[in-house]
Amino acid sequence: MPQAEKVAHLADYADTAERQPLLALRGISKTFGTVKALDDLGVAIRPGEFITVVGPSGCGKSTLFNIVAGLEEPDAGGSLAFLGKPSRARDLLGRVAFMPQRDLLLPWRTVIDNAILAVELEGVRRADARRQALAMLPEFGLTGFEQRYPHELSGGMRQRVALMRTFMFKRDLMLLDEPFGALDALTRSMMQRWLLDVWQKHRRTILFITHDVDEALFLGDRVMVMTARPGRVKLEQPVNLPRPRRPEIVTSPEFIALKRTLLDAIEEESMKSFTTSDKPAGTA
Ligand SMILES: Nc1ncnc2c1ncn2[C@@H]1O[C@H](COP(=O)(O)OP(=O)(O)OP(=O)(O)O)[C@@H](O)[C@H]1O
Ligand SMILES: [Mg+2]
Repeated sequence: MPQAEKVAHLADYADTAERQPLLALRGISKTFGTVKALDDLGVAIRPGEFITVVGPSGCGKSTLFNIVAGLEEPDAGGSLAFLGKPSRARDLLGRVAFMPQRDLLLPWRTVIDNAILAVELEGVRRADARRQALAMLPEFGLTGFEQRYPHELSGGMRQRVALMRTFMFKRDLMLLDEPFGALDALTRSMMQRWLLDVWQKHRRTILFITHDVDEALFLGDRVMVMTARPGRVKLEQPVNLPRPRRPEIVTSPEFIALKRTLLDAIEEESMKSFTTSDKPAGTA
């Protein structure tokens, strides 16, 4: 890593020291066989923050989430602290709410029974879980659909069921991996505004992966741009746009200037991942 970048990261840690981070990662690397997915990644996440993550395809975004969700251990050498307490990745299993890249609704379960899956696995009685879920349906735009099956729903509704499941699993930290990736532009923009409302009401800390720079800026307090694989933090861009955010904000000069900065950073990395991508091991 160039020296200048290393110094910038250390300064970031000093800034956040007075307010204890909810999650602090330092020097996180992850190797799968001959593929290095993450390399020396560091980030500190403050309670209540909405952080969006962008980066070229294959740079290790989902791998990062799998580590924070406790599903994968990073390589030896890095450190991970949750509320100041040094932890292994597996200690975080069940302590964060995770919506994986695919929505993973069970086709044989109704909307309500898909929504309660995570809390039911945690040991909440099904009748109690269903009661809680029924009360949340209006907020998630699913009133009247509780007895429907996933194949009877639109893409946007399926995403809301998966999000409701993640919100019902009440944890301080929520990981959302491209939750709106499969939606058309209009539905997506409605879902973004809806998510900001729900986030502000429930006061959670959110890490949100997206490929859409507008979405990253519209939602985030900070945008974390990752380098091409092996992924590390290329840029942490604060987004000091006022909240609540209105749709018109995307045409403001401030928004457009931020977008230019992010697009430049992402384009530089995408070019790298394009020219170096996926050569079989052993070839130059
Ligand atoms: N369980 C695994 N076993 C082997 N290789 C893996 C595994 N998980 C991820 N990888 C590899 O690690 C790299 C990063 O993958 P990852 O899914 O984290 O990327 P991503 O940034 O989420 O990509 P996308 O934007 O396409 O979702 C890829 O080269 C991938 O093939
Ligand atoms: Mg991914």
